[in-house]
Amino acid sequence: MLPEKQLFNNGSFLFIFVLVYNNPMSTKIIAGNWKMNPVTLKDVKSTFAGIKRSVSKVRGVSVLICPPFIYLPELKKMAMGGKVEVGAQDVSDKDQGAQTGSVSAYMVRDLGVKSTIIGHSERRAGGDTDEIVNQKVLTALTAGLKVILCIGEKVRDEKGQYLEALQKQLEKALAGFPVKLADRLIVAYEPVWAIGKNATGVETPDGFLHNKIFIRKVLSGILGKKKALAVPVLYGGSANAQNAGDFLGAGQADGLLVGRDSLNPKNFAEIIKIASLSK
Ligand code: PGA
Repeated sequence: MLPEKQLFNNGSFLFIFVLVYNNPMSTKIIAGNWKMNPVTLKDVKSTFAGIKRSVSKVRGVSVLICPPFIYLPELKKMAMGGKVEVGAQDVSDKDQGAQTGSVSAYMVRDLGVKSTIIGHSERRAGGDTDEIVNQKVLTALTAGLKVILCIGEKVRDEKGQYLEALQKQLEKALAGFPVKLADRLIVAYEPVWAIGKNATGVETPDGFLHNKIFIRKVLSGILGKKKALAVPVLYGGSANAQNAGDFLGAGQADGLLVGRDSLNPKNFAEIIKIASLSK
């Protein structure tokens, strides 16, 4: 069981109630993180075309595909006139300069791309500290991008100590965050143990909801209650066509960040369809 007491302490029950039951968001966000896939431009184009086709009539869902950097220009062109937007998977913490192999948020923005993932656990495993994640968030915002900030604990403990890890990740990543830009922030809660083909489990919709409440509570300390309420909180980690309805329904997720299933146009289209029906 999750530590409900911990979530509902500090006399904030009313606030929590408002957070959950008075959620003004109805447009779900379905974002696909393609990671380092596919490895040919031919497959990239056919996968994207399949997704674009299948969402052409869908309403009430904001669909985003984050391919490897190298494919952004081509997919930006392919996305024109359709309902799928493209985003980056990461950006440098620096604006420009002697940073071999890095890509600047300003370059991404110059392509007409409007958003980027930051702080994904695979980038954190590759060396992104909380401080680097923070610098990336601030650089991306200054460049004019929207940020999908990923947070998530490595292990889940029964006593709820993982919540401290979530709080620390959020507070450090958002240090110095300009409150007036809060509408450019999306948080993706992705427990690391639930991500990828080596996942040891999947979060439950109920567990997600508890964590979403906790995340909103921490956000309210950073951005103020009103702005915190408007920050979409997505679920990620083995999200798929089978569990999407539960996360978006009972779990009250504002959307999903999907890895593997976003590379399968049929499954991704199914997730988007489910999102369009869930209010
Ligand atoms: P997964 O990846 O859906 O393949 O678990 C999610 C992610 O890493 O964003």
